[in-house]
Formats: sequence, C-alpha cells, structure tokens
Amino acid sequence: MNKERRRILIRSATAAAATAVGLPASHARAGGEERAATDVDVHIELHAVQDSVAIRPGAQTRVWRYRGKLLRGDPDTLETSVDTYLGPIIRVHRGQRVRIDLINELPEPTIVHWHGLHVPEPMDGHPRYAIGPGARYVYEFTVVDRAGSYWYHPHPDGRTGKQVYFGLAGLFLVSDDEEAALDLPTGPQDLPLVLQDRTFGDDNQLTYLSQSPTGAPAGDSQNRGMTGGAMMGRGGMGGMMGGQGGMGQMMARMMGVLGDEILVNGRPDASLAVERRPYRLRLLNASNSRIYKLAWHDGVPLTAIGTDGGLLAAPLRRDYVMLAPAERVDLWVDFARWPAGSDLTLQSLPFKGGRGMNGMMGGMMGEMGESALPDGAAFPVLKLQVQHGGNDRPALPPRRLSQLPQPQPRLAVNYNRPKVFNITMGMMTWGINGRSFDMLGVTPLETVKLGTHEIWEFRNDGQTGMMGMAMAHAMHVHGLQFRVIWRSVAAASSRQQGTVKAGLLDEGWKDTVLVMPGERVRILLGFKDYPGLFLYHCHMLEHEDSGLMRNYLIKA
Ligand code: C2O
Ligand code: CU
Repeated sequence: MNKERRRILIRSATAAAATAVGLPASHARAGGEERAATDVDVHIELHAVQDSVAIRPGAQTRVWRYRGKLLRGDPDTLETSVDTYLGPIIRVHRGQRVRIDLINELPEPTIVHWHGLHVPEPMDGHPRYAIGPGARYVYEFTVVDRAGSYWYHPHPDGRTGKQVYFGLAGLFLVSDDEEAALDLPTGPQDLPLVLQDRTFGDDNQLTYLSQSPTGAPAGDSQNRGMTGGAMMGRGGMGGMMGGQGGMGQMMARMMGVLGDEILVNGRPDASLAVERRPYRLRLLNASNSRIYKLAWHDGVPLTAIGTDGGLLAAPLRRDYVMLAPAERVDLWVDFARWPAGSDLTLQSLPFKGGRGMNGMMGGMMGEMGESALPDGAAFPVLKLQVQHGGNDRPALPPRRLSQLPQPQPRLAVNYNRPKVFNITMGMMTWGINGRSFDMLGVTPLETVKLGTHEIWEFRNDGQTGMMGMAMAHAMHVHGLQFRVIWRSVAAASSRQQGTVKAGLLDEGWKDTVLVMPGERVRILLGFKDYPGLFLYHCHMLEHEDSGLMRNYLIKA
C-alpha cells in the first residue's frame, strides 16, 4: 500500500472513531510527525510522555510530563527547564493564533485543558474529547484573554488527580499591550513559582492512591508511604488503615491527597538568590488539594498585582494571601526593602477550617490526623537570599495597573434569583445539588443563554451526609473569567474563617474561587462568543475525580 493512501486510511479511521464519540473529526488525528502549520503565529507539539527526573538525592523519580517542541513562532514562546518535570512555560501575546498538537504517549487516555482561557468548546479539553495512547489532538485557537498567568493540565474523566500528581502541568503566560506599557519587572525578575506538594515513597517514587507512573500497582510499602502520609499519619492506625483499598485510601480519595513535601517549580527545599530590585512573582497553586496561606516570614505585607485573570486595577496589600488549588496570584515585591545578605522565607501560615469533620466520623478521624503535613499546618514554601548590590531604596509598584470595570450584577438575567449550587455529599461521592459528574449530563439549571450574564451562588453550608464533612472547596468554571460579587460567612464558622478571610482576593478576574465551610459565594458570569458544553467543578482534584464536577451548557 503506498504511503499516501495509507495515511488517508489512518486518517479516516480516526475520523470515524472520532465521530462515534461525538468528537469533531478535524481535531483528533492519527499520530505521526506533521509539519509546522503556516497559517498560525505559534505551532507547538506537546507530547505527554513517561520519563524520570532527578528530584531528590538518590534514585530518579518516575514521572509523567509534557515535552514541548516549537514548530513555528518566536523562540521565546517555549521555555523548557531541564531539572523539573513541569511542562514547558508557554508564552504568547494576546491576539496570537495558536496551534498545539497534543500527542499522547501515556499508557492511558488524556486530554489537555487550558485553565482560565476563553476558547471554543472543542478546544477546552472536556473529558469527552480524551484521546487514547498514540493519538493526537489538534488545538487551534486565538488567544483573546487579558495578560495573565494561565496554565494547562490534563482533564480525562476520573484521572485528572493522578495525571497531575505524576507531573503533568505547565504555565501558559499571556502578555498584552496594556501590561507592556506598565514597566513591570521582566526577564529574570518575572518569576513563575508553581507550588505543589508530593509524598515520595521508597526509592524516591511517587504513588497516587496505590497507582504508580509505571502503570503497575504500587508495592505495599510504597502504598503505605503514600496513603499513610497523605491521610492517616504514619504508624498507628495509619498503618492499619492505609493499606490498598483500605479506609485510608477511601478517605484520601474523598477528602483529597496531601503530600508531605512542598515543591516549588518541581524542586524540594526550594531556595533562590534575588537582587535588591523589584520582582514580579507569579504564583500558581498546582497542588492536588492543598491550600496555602502565603506570607513573608517577618510579617511584611504582600503586594498583590494580579489574580487568575490578570492584573488588578491597582496593587492591594495583604498580610497574607490564601491560594486554593488552581488559583494564581501575582505579587510585586522589591527586595531592596531588606538589607543585603538577608535570608527571607515565603511561608504558609497556619489556618483553620480547611477540612474538619463532625458527626459520626468526626472524633475518630480528627484524632488520627491526616498527613505528616496536615491541611492548615505551617511550613516554609521558598527561601530567598538577598544579594549584595542593587538599589539603595525600594521602589513602589505602579499606582494604576489596569482597566478593571466594577462588576455589574444588574447585568444578570437572574439578578433577583441567583442560581444555587449546593456542594453535596451522598453515598460517599461528592456532587452538586446531589448530582455527580455525568459525561454529557446537564440540567435546565445548568443551561444558560449565549450573550447573557448570570449570578451563581456556590453554597458550602449544607448537609454533607453521614460523614458530616466540612471541607473547603475551590470552585472553578471553564471557558471564562468571572467576578466575585458577594460572600457570606455563617456565624458558626466565623471564628475559623477569621484565620483565612483577610487573605482572600475577591477583587479582580477569577476562574477559581475558594469557598470555605459555612460559606456562600456569589459570582457574576458572562457567557459570550462560544456556545457548547463546558465544565464547572471543584479544583481539589480528588473531589473533581470523584464527582464534584458538572457540565453547563451555553445555548446559542
Ligand atoms: Cu483546571 Cu476543569 O480545570
Ligand atoms: Cu472540593
């Protein structure tokens, strides 16, 4: 059979398979090298591969990772660092037309979601578009979003937590002219910092709910390292209950996996030399389930200049900043405010209320603790050494940053009747209004009209079933940026919330919002440009994978 004909046959077989699952045929293609597309500004081949990386002293750690290849575009578009499992940093300018070919070299299905970006439905990485091993998915979209720190990660049904944990995640940084006019720190002073937590078991290997990156079930000792560490504390009841398929597993799967080591940009014990001049720190919480309460060690306030969807109107000062899974915050800091030779620590402060249980299981689980590094514990995140030289006096951040209109709740078609989305727990699975994720399922409440605005209210104060679980959630809506317009704290939980509240950044554009136990949060969303089926869910990845995710449908 000649090559060309064979290629056509493979293509049409793929097209047929694609049509069978409702996939637009043009996006799923057979594997094999393709040449750079000439009708786009940027063309990247993104391979999801198995690899190993030296993370800790001793054996290399087996990981899954994205490897990028720039086929077309400015060489600065792709930044790969060698000593991390994180995906390459993709840098694009607003307005650029981008094509990215995902090539799945993993032993299981995957798909990529461009977190925070406003893209047409087939480009958004819904799990129904997941491709099998060896297959290719072609993304093509125009970057219409504001300058900001977006990111990308896998989104296959029920496997997102595992794939991210094994290493699949990367930053997608957008610049625009408004930002460029501001004279913000650039180059080495524009520092992306990706925060994650991991537990390393025997031989420096990762296991995730008894699965390993090799595909083989993890050994029992590794298994205990993971589940024991993540959920039950080591030894004691943890050993007993941490076995494969045991209570520890079940609880970790439900409440969320916490690692006991903090990694910054994929490195443990991260430390960095900085000059005495202004920096922009772009923080992304890419942890599966851990919440951070970020502060300087000496109590100097943080200066936030951006949130999920880009720059704020003006800098905001906070004694600490909460960062839930998938949230981003851009900090502006001039290290000239500390003397040369200082050692600084960006740390996570203790807080209460992230996970707690009352009811039947409460006492027992509470006593056993949950991790060597429990939720709400204090720990260092990043050490910084201030070098000699640089500027004498610290500068001030720009006074005005960006055009940021006040949210207009009156735009909402349901201004007087916010749609209520209760976070629920039934039969040991999470859900929204009692429903768990269902691939194509969508209710009338979850259906909206293209070209309208709505107000949604996430409620995390309801009955959470016999487990009596009270947990923080990080609610994320795909395909758009929203504004937080209201937040209420139930009286019963206000004391715990007191350790969190002052660190919330509800100003600015958001795609993910922390909803603490006892809270209700109202957001204003606008549905424009692209009709279709999108997701909204909790970004604690174990919650998402176990059902705390639903579709919403934008009807033309
Ligand atoms: Cu970053 Cu559906 O998520
Ligand atoms: Cu959640």
